[in-house]
Amino acid sequence: MQTMNILETKGLYHDFKGLKVLFDVNLEVRKGERHAVIGPNGAGKTTLFNVITGAYVPSKGKVLFRGEDVTGSSPEQMVRHGIGRSFQITSTFSKLTAFQNIRIGILSKRGVRFNMFQNVDKIEDITRETNELLRRINLYDVRDVPAGTLAYGQQRSLEISMALATDPDLVMLDEPSAGMSKEETHYAVELIRKITKGKTVVIIEHDMDVVFSLADRITVLHQGTILASGSPSEIRENQAVKDAYLGETEE
Ligand SMILES: Nc1ncnc2c1ncn2[C@@H]1O[C@H](COP(=O)(O)OP(=O)(O)O)[C@@H](O)[C@H]1O
Ligand SMILES: [Mg+2]
Repeated sequence: MQTMNILETKGLYHDFKGLKVLFDVNLEVRKGERHAVIGPNGAGKTTLFNVITGAYVPSKGKVLFRGEDVTGSSPEQMVRHGIGRSFQITSTFSKLTAFQNIRIGILSKRGVRFNMFQNVDKIEDITRETNELLRRINLYDVRDVPAGTLAYGQQRSLEISMALATDPDLVMLDEPSAGMSKEETHYAVELIRKITKGKTVVIIEHDMDVVFSLADRITVLHQGTILASGSPSEIRENQAVKDAYLGETEE
């Protein structure tokens, strides 16, 4: 029996004006797993996310989602295929309220822009969905506060949840715990666990405690190519990974 991979990249290459950033990347993500992508700064992790989510068209190779070739789809099309993402740098709309930010995510899945004259049932539907998500992420009480004035941890929660607002099957999170304190990180990890139940998650993360507690499988990216991919214990024991990366942080 063949394992179902929800996401695969096949011989993926990307370069920026001659700078080779991704090199023959063959990523395999199984349906329903939490898959961490780790690797040193500059390894190409964010670029890989950008290619998968349609921000960049790869120089060569393919992106397969549920076995379907989606290479070169726009970010909006990727959302409609069922791929949601968050960004390494906070990308919420700071002047809009928490409610308005989440609503944008929900609307983008449906492919509609908010329009005052749309039929009222539809608007009530969207409002209900937005409020439900705000309650799940404990931001309902601050729903009318502009995102830019929320506490940093709350802003990051909002950011993570924006990726979920489009109700994707695959959620891609780029360093969700970046810049967080230990406490905020712990909270964010619990939030991710809770709101991604039943979904496939690919997460870029530099905090190894988070990686090893959250991930079912890990892919190590190094200088633009995959050094190893496997279970947490396989990665922990992999000699090439120890030499190139993990070794530095141990002892
Ligand atoms: N838009 C861009 N234009 C030119 N070079 C880029 C661009 N984005 C990333 N790079 C370069 O690509 C390499 C990989 O970057 P990135 O994917 O952000 O790595 P990571 O997320 O693993 O830290 C780095 O050398 C970075 O400077
Ligand atoms: Mg990055």
